[in-house]
Amino acid sequence: MGRGRLIVFEGADGVGKSTQVGLLADWLAAAGREPVVVREPGGTPVGEAIRQVLLQPEHVMAPLTETLLFGAARHEVVERVIRPALADGRVVLADRFTLSTVAYQHFGAGVPRERVDTVNAWATGGLQPDLTLVLTAPTPRLTLQDRMEQRDAGFHARVREGYEMLSREHCSSRHHRLVVLAQAGDAAHVAAAVLDAVRPLLEGEGGRRA
Ligand code: TYD
Repeated sequence: MGRGRLIVFEGADGVGKSTQVGLLADWLAAAGREPVVVREPGGTPVGEAIRQVLLQPEHVMAPLTETLLFGAARHEVVERVIRPALADGRVVLADRFTLSTVAYQHFGAGVPRERVDTVNAWATGGLQPDLTLVLTAPTPRLTLQDRMEQRDAGFHARVREGYEMLSREHCSSRHHRLVVLAQAGDAAHVAAAVLDAVRPLLEGEGGRRA
């Protein structure tokens, strides 16, 4: 049995993240390592119910309420799905994780960074991804269907800038587990870059650092 690995996809709305999660899942399945795929908010029955509360356009809530709800959904998926899967040696692909809350609720909505970091620490119990892939795109495609996507252009610009700052922060702290992938070319091009980043992790030595 292989070692469990947590691979996270991050990025602003409309950068094609979910497409890449699907392509990597197909590749892993074909390679005989059927992954566990989760999305946030969601991934568990309670998480999906929280997702409805968070994304319904008519819901109005304070930024900290929103942060706590994202944190609650994350705790559920970490405890009920991700940790058991990793303990089983599975590869887990997560469509968003802790960086989303920093990018959206801190940089986008102005919740103090230490509060977001505290909620993330509670939610994950310190579980860190083995690899985070941050996707960027010159012209993200927004469908404007949910409460987060309907925020103004300034909010989305701050989120994108937030991801850039977080990527620099991770690089300057020699955090080798974060890779930024700029969308140049079609989805297949990006998928090839994703595989380049993921392959060493699956073949690499050493256990995971929980
Ligand atoms: P979703 O439809 O999954 O968007 P995407 O396909 O872009 O991931 O909706 C999730 C929305 O919730 C998205 O706008 C990002 C936002 N979000 C936060 O604001 N904070 C978070 O911690 C997470 C996980 C998501």
